[in-house]
Amino acid sequence: MEKIRVSYEKALTEEQISSVVAEAVAAQKTLHAGDGKGNDFLGWLTLPSSITPAFLDEVEAVAASLRERCEVVVAIGIGGSYLGAKMVIEALSDAFASYKSAGTQVLFAGQNIGEDYLYELQELLRGKQFGLINISKSGTTTEPAIAFRLLKKQLEEQVGKDEAKKRIVAVTDAARGALRKLADMEGYKTFVIPDNVGGRFSVLTPVGLLPIAVAGFDIKQLVGGAADMEQQCGENVPAAENQAIRYAVARNLLYRAGKKIEILVNFNPKLHFLAEWWKQLYGESEGKDKKGIFPASVDFTTDLHSMGQWIQDGERTIFETVVSVETMKHTLAIPTDEENLDGLNFLAGKRIDDVNKMAELGTQIAHIDGGVPNLKITLPAINEYYLGQLIYFFEKACGISGYMLGVNPFDQPGVEAYKKNMFALLDKPGYEAESKAIKARL
Ligand code: PA5
Repeated sequence: MEKIRVSYEKALTEEQISSVVAEAVAAQKTLHAGDGKGNDFLGWLTLPSSITPAFLDEVEAVAASLRERCEVVVAIGIGGSYLGAKMVIEALSDAFASYKSAGTQVLFAGQNIGEDYLYELQELLRGKQFGLINISKSGTTTEPAIAFRLLKKQLEEQVGKDEAKKRIVAVTDAARGALRKLADMEGYKTFVIPDNVGGRFSVLTPVGLLPIAVAGFDIKQLVGGAADMEQQCGENVPAAENQAIRYAVARNLLYRAGKKIEILVNFNPKLHFLAEWWKQLYGESEGKDKKGIFPASVDFTTDLHSMGQWIQDGERTIFETVVSVETMKHTLAIPTDEENLDGLNFLAGKRIDDVNKMAELGTQIAHIDGGVPNLKITLPAINEYYLGQLIYFFEKACGISGYMLGVNPFDQPGVEAYKKNMFALLDKPGYEAESKAIKARL
């Protein structure tokens, strides 16, 4: 199997990279020694190599039972309990799978508080055979709890309590939280999210693996790719060959040079949610203590027709990291047209992807000319194995990068502020003083 490749030469020289490699090596050492900030959340570091085939068999068996019973399975979760599965499923699925009725569909809920979204989802599920995977590490997150309450009720009404229990799986903490309590009381099948794996690093636990398996994808290949990358970015691999070290070095160097925004770019619409997952991973890990690169993303060529102007010519505080895919799954050539009224015959016979690749190259050159440093990550293809490599690569680089920045990459104290205000505004019991204080400000 090939490896994903990272190139830096359109952003930094080898000399620049070498100048701070020692910092990254030290950061990596801290990660592996487990003596840095947030060291109780390092379970992800050796997760791929520690997952056993027997465990993956168990996840696959539960997925198979859900697939057998259900036309639709709704994965309920938010943030780290949502984005990993969504990313992998979107990347691997037929773009029009929901119109082609190809087996069990995985839909998502609990990732927003959209009344219309939930209403319309309930409408869709009416009369359908459906099941639920309720994913929450804390077991107390409001958004998924609301969605689960609604959908559980609907499922029980549609199929009865006994059958509903066979179609609900809970993925949560081993012992704590409301979801654990509910699952134990109702007798749902459960999977545990390890204590030492935080939400945004949890895609290779049942949080991601179960919905991905239900969607029909090969979780063994996914974990295999991640395990290979775990080795390739291992502590004893020379820094010059360790892609995670080099990516962490590159982004920290660019940040220090005033490039405060990193834009993750794709030229393949299936990678839209890769960027959403990556934004959470880096945004939540590094955006603290008034520091951190702002992770942004664009889908090209679509967004070249909207954000292209800003990127080419706006404030020069950005750099791009392009996720480039070498080979497509399908082949489609541009046909000849006798009339040639659209003037496109010069492209006749070329593959659509040949045109896309030239758009990619042309954009890279234009943006470099415009003063936007360009990093590139090349995936030989979009499949489970290379996505697994990419996931571990980004996670490892994130841990190193966060330590280089001097923050705790494994906490997220900032996400509590909105919750406190929301509960105060909603008069949640226990929030009386906050309620009074916030209402006085309105
Ligand atoms: O990364 C994180 O910790 C968060 O994004 C959480 O995953 C998110 O808030 C969901 O939390 P929970 O799984 O506890 O419902």
